[in-house]
Amino acid sequence: MKEIRNKTLWVTGASSGIGRALSLRLARHNNIVIASGRRFEALAELQTHCPERIRVLDCDVADDAAMTAVPERLGALSGHLDMVIACAGTCEYDDDLQLDGSTYRQVFDANFFGVVNTLRSALPLLAASPAPVFAALGSLSSVVPFPRAEAYGSSKAALDYFLGAVRADLCRTPLKVVRIRPGFVRTPLTARNDFGMPFLMSAEQAAERIELGLCKGRSSIDFPRRLSWPLRLLGSCSALWFYLFAPKMTRIRRLRKR
Ligand SMILES: NC(=O)c1ccc[n+]([C@@H]2O[C@H](COP(=O)([O-])OP(=O)(O)OC[C@H]3O[C@@H](n4cnc5c(N)ncnc54)[C@H](OP(=O)(O)O)[C@@H]3O)[C@@H](O)[C@H]2O)c1
Repeated sequence: MKEIRNKTLWVTGASSGIGRALSLRLARHNNIVIASGRRFEALAELQTHCPERIRVLDCDVADDAAMTAVPERLGALSGHLDMVIACAGTCEYDDDLQLDGSTYRQVFDANFFGVVNTLRSALPLLAASPAPVFAALGSLSSVVPFPRAEAYGSSKAALDYFLGAVRADLCRTPLKVVRIRPGFVRTPLTARNDFGMPFLMSAEQAAERIELGLCKGRSSIDFPRRLSWPLRLLGSCSALWFYLFAPKMTRIRRLRKR
């Protein structure tokens, strides 16, 4: 099976990039997609491409208080959820190691606490499906520590652990937990990157890889392999990373006297 068909899914981060491409692809494969993001207009525009199968639920996954209303709002759109794909996320680099707490919190709010809120909101409806799946977008950046990625990479590493722990907790239940870690994908999130992005792919290509991995029943979907395998090798041999690669990548040459 190469396509997900006839399911009901909730996709967060659907107003842009990977989440948008996934939502469109899944709706075209005859699934009902509940598409979320903060920007209602972007979601409404998405809905025009497949109005009979895309439903819009605007919400800020990082807003704990507002998210308490989401289970009821989801319930008004569907009696169950077969799958959730948590794509909502953000990226901020810490140039010059400023260590500004508010930036770190903002990144963790979306990338980590946003997924916690998403899972909590979805669990009652996932429990109504015979074979529910909860998937979330991590990043290959959590495999090795990249310069400038202290906030982003840490939030994704925390997410890796969270998903693993949830998987361990729920291993005797039908709920399947899936970690998805893309390499570089051309989206508004990476448009700001001012460095070479190896093996850059389109959001549509990423959506295809994700759907295929989910169809194969994988618990971990890392792509592209030509990036994930070398990174995993470097991750297990950190001396190589810190002596050969990190010195070429860091932009910091001396400690600043504040
Ligand atoms: N692009 C890459 O190369 C890449 C690589 C690895 C992992 N990822 C991960 O893939 C996911 C999608 O990234 P992308 O590249 O597609 O980025 P993107 O085009 O910037 O899309 C991010 C999406 O997240 C939503 N979002 C952000 N903060 C939110 C919040 N607080 N509440 C609700 N929705 C929120 C945005 O919608 P609104 O603005 O409407 O809220 C948007 O739909 C992210 O988790 C990212 O970390 C991306």
